[in-house]
Amino acid sequence: MQTFSANNPPFGSGLDPNHPQEHSVLSKTNAILNEEVPVKITIILPTNAYFMSGVRDFTKTVVMNMTGFSEKWAFRFQSVVDELTNNAIEFGSAPGEYIKVTFVSVKGKSIEVFVEDSGTGASKKTAAEMSRLVAERRQTDPTRITTIRGRGLAQIVSHWTDQLEFLDNAAGGLTVHVVKQLSDGEQD
Ligand SMILES: Nc1ncnc2c1ncn2[C@@H]1O[C@H](COP(=O)(O)OP(=O)(O)OP(=O)(O)O)[C@@H](O)[C@H]1O
Ligand SMILES: [Mg+2]
Repeated sequence: MQTFSANNPPFGSGLDPNHPQEHSVLSKTNAILNEEVPVKITIILPTNAYFMSGVRDFTKTVVMNMTGFSEKWAFRFQSVVDELTNNAIEFGSAPGEYIKVTFVSVKGKSIEVFVEDSGTGASKKTAAEMSRLVAERRQTDPTRITTIRGRGLAQIVSHWTDQLEFLDNAAGGLTVHVVKQLSDGEQD
């Protein structure tokens, strides 16, 4: 009977030709987290607010653990992604359809998020219309805003990102793209 010990572990030891060390899950984990290469992860979720909390949790993990932002920035970026997924679900996608959230993270450098909808929701807007709307609302003095709604993009998203752009996507909907660079004082 074969026995396992610290010197003869069952997996990834390199001793078993079917489980060489370079194939082990652990060696692949280290490789991706130690390099300054973009890591791209896409989540596709139904048009349903129920799934937003999972995206929120995942955003914190990517922003803090994979990119290297402080907890304060992870919380801020959670709000940014929350606003974008909320908009895609509320305005950009009908029940039964899907939205797509893509994270592109570079360790120690930047986080990018793309939120794509299918343009089948309550409010159909083009990228050009959205860019104009946000540019106008950014001129408004925030202390003069008296309505509860209408702050997501112009106040939260655009202030906590370095870049905010709208694109018309192939599905007929909107893709909202945000970028945040990791600057001095924002690290973990
Ligand atoms: N993905 C989208 N598809 C279509 N229209 C959108 C989309 N996202 C935003 N909009 C339009 O842009 C407007 C402004 O969005 P914004 O997130 O800034 O404010 P809001 O969603 O109305 O309110 P708040 O986010 O403050 O609760 C929305 O009211 C909606 O008309
Ligand atoms: Mg909104």
